Amino acid sequence: MVTFVACVSLHHLGASAVSVADIQGASFQSPLVGQTVRDVTGVVTAKDRYGFWIAGEPSEDVRVSTGLRIYSSAAAHKVAIGDLISLDGRVAEYRAKNSPNDLTLTEIDLVHVVSVLSHNHDISPIVLGKDRTPPTGKLSSVDAGRDGWLSLPNNVTLLEEGNTTLQPDSYGLDFWESLEGQVVTIPNPMAVNFPDRFGSFWVHGDWFVTGKNERGGITLTFDKSGVPNAHPEAIFVGHPLDGTRNPKPFMGAALSNITGVVTYQFGFFYILPLTAPTIVSVPETSALPASARSSSAPCLITIGDYNVENMSPRSQHIPAIAKHITDFLHTPDMLFVQEIQDDSGVRNDGVVSANRTLAALAQAIKGASGVHYDFADVDPEDNMDGGQPGGNIRVAYLWRPEKVSLVAGHRRGSATQATEIVRDGKGELTLSLNPGRIDPTNIAWDETRKPIAAAWQTTSGERFFTVNVHFRSKRDSSSPQGNARPPVNGHSEERRLQMDVTANFVESILVKDANASVVVAGDFNEFVQTRSVFESLQGLLFEPDVNFVPPEERYTYVYDQHAQAIDHMFVSPAILARGAAIEHVHINTWAPTARSRASDHDPTVAQLWVCDSQEIDSVLPLEIDEQIML
Ligand SMILES: *[C@@H]1O[C@H](CO)[C@@H](O)[C@H](O)[C@H]1NC(C)=O
Ligand SMILES: *[C@@H]1O[C@H](CO)[C@@H](O)[C@H](O)[C@H]1NC(C)=O
Ligand SMILES: *[C@@H]1O[C@H](CO)[C@@H](O)[C@H](O)[C@H]1NC(C)=O
Ligand SMILES: *[C@@H]1O[C@H](CO)[C@@H](O)[C@H](O)[C@H]1NC(C)=O
Ligand SMILES: *[C@@H]1O[C@H](CO)[C@@H](O)[C@H](O)[C@H]1NC(C)=O
Repeated sequence: MVTFVACVSLHHLGASAVSVADIQGASFQSPLVGQTVRDVTGVVTAKDRYGFWIAGEPSEDVRVSTGLRIYSSAAAHKVAIGDLISLDGRVAEYRAKNSPNDLTLTEIDLVHVVSVLSHNHDISPIVLGKDRTPPTGKLSSVDAGRDGWLSLPNNVTLLEEGNTTLQPDSYGLDFWESLEGQVVTIPNPMAVNFPDRFGSFWVHGDWFVTGKNERGGITLTFDKSGVPNAHPEAIFVGHPLDGTRNPKPFMGAALSNITGVVTYQFGFFYILPLTAPTIVSVPETSALPASARSSSAPCLITIGDYNVENMSPRSQHIPAIAKHITDFLHTPDMLFVQEIQDDSGVRNDGVVSANRTLAALAQAIKGASGVHYDFADVDPEDNMDGGQPGGNIRVAYLWRPEKVSLVAGHRRGSATQATEIVRDGKGELTLSLNPGRIDPTNIAWDETRKPIAAAWQTTSGERFFTVNVHFRSKRDSSSPQGNARPPVNGHSEERRLQMDVTANFVESILVKDANASVVVAGDFNEFVQTRSVFESLQGLLFEPDVNFVPPEERYTYVYDQHAQAIDHMFVSPAILARGAAIEHVHINTWAPTARSRASDHDPTVAQLWVCDSQEIDSVLPLEIDEQIML
């Protein structure tokens, strides 16, 4: 029962009054949680169906928010924006029941007296980037460890158990918590991703951001001290409070200024706009094709790598992928693809062969480009490798037979057979099963795609080795803005083990020939900034793009606010020494809508010299020079 009092009564001036700042305090949780408070005064700044927000007296202490959520739909009906009110109620820390990892939201519930004291007060939003600026770098002081928020092990500390005093100038969660319930303006917001399925989207405003790429997105990079950026300077924009509909922005779309209240919901800090912004401008340029092209030099190989997202023979997106391979990747000499489904797609019918899927892709590429590809894969055991049930996704190779071929003499492996490096009759290195899976019964590959290794031959007769991977996904990760610190990076332990097994295999080649040309590429479902996952590659394999592409432009995927590279190509020291170039083609991350993408990943193209021969001096520098001018 809520009582409404029309005018100021004497007890509002009593000594027991508690300010909004007293309720918010300088830590994540209210020092007054559970207590009934009286005569809390403030100006109504925003309303929704379930309640409203008030602004109390300003505070000198930047750690202390002077905004507050009032949870009472009954009370909301009786107040108007701009009213100065006074109320009694209980201080609560709200967390949705089914979201135990969420941080809590400080609010007043059990509101029992609301008095409207006067009307038409001004509301002055805090201008972000001017009055208060989000920190860059870290989300939380408790994300200790070399890799910051990406450090392993995960969930070592629960943020709220520490009752730490906020450090808003240093840590992102502390910053947004210090504004919880306040009205803020984001000047000149720029979207960094497509909206999520609820229409919410991430932006940064007109303030310093780290890892800004040329498109306007923010790329996961290392900060000055060598710790991965968590990008606390970006903020989620939720549903407008007045019921208007958000636009559907994308990376680099500029929006009109957003004014709204800071809240915490669904595991993240959000700004709920008072009204929907509009898109005011969009990037003028579209994605550029790769510069590398297939050449006549037998040893200079172009490799395309593309996660083609759940492709079956009947997939609508086959023509779009074929067109990307033709126009943007320039029909590379070899293709490493991931997420090839079996011939019956998601029908869960025991079919595991993907010959029809691969033939459909090869046919579509031939139709678009005239270029013929051969293909090979290894069929998995039914429903043992994760992904959509019945789909049996796997990795596969396609190649141009006029340029390379599988080394002959050994049959293709089965789902459970491990291929190994061996010498053939002439003493040359090859694989016992070609192509074949790497240690497929190792527990590291439980419920996930097994890598396929292959031994190849150039038309000049030299050999090189490849491994095509699709590591376990980040499913079951916890929110980076949740209680578990560092946040749970789903299945990172499995990916670390998968990397170890892959590294062991590569090492087995390199101990036999330190100069071997080895390429490991695919969807690793992990950023190189999570260094502990990639540790076993140290000294064995290297990223060829290090000197050519600025770190901000290295991304193949966008998730939350981060443009990120989770698809990689690593090469052996011999390849690196000969000079190698790699490009990400932002054909999907730059799409105007999420639905118009052909895949959720961008493809990659590399140009590598795969032979230990002298010819290199005459051909390579020329071709690579073009590449690095990009
Ligand atoms: C948290 O710390 C503040 C002082 O920084 C104190 O006032 C408050 O009571 C503490 N809360 C809990 C739950 O311990
Ligand atoms: C983090 O660990 C605690 C136990 O300390 C557990 O209760 C909680 O569910 C874990 N959080 C996540 C997100 O896994
Ligand atoms: C957006 O906010 C900035 C900074 O407060 C201001 O300079 C600019 O005029 C605003 N733009 C619009 C369209 O209101
Ligand atoms: C798929 O094609 C390969 C040759 O590329 C062949 O060995 C295999 O038997 C085929 N599988 C089916 C089910 O047709
Ligand atoms: C590796 O290649 C380098 C340069 O081509 C050569 O000097 C060296 O002898 C080779 N090492 C082996 C083990 O083949």
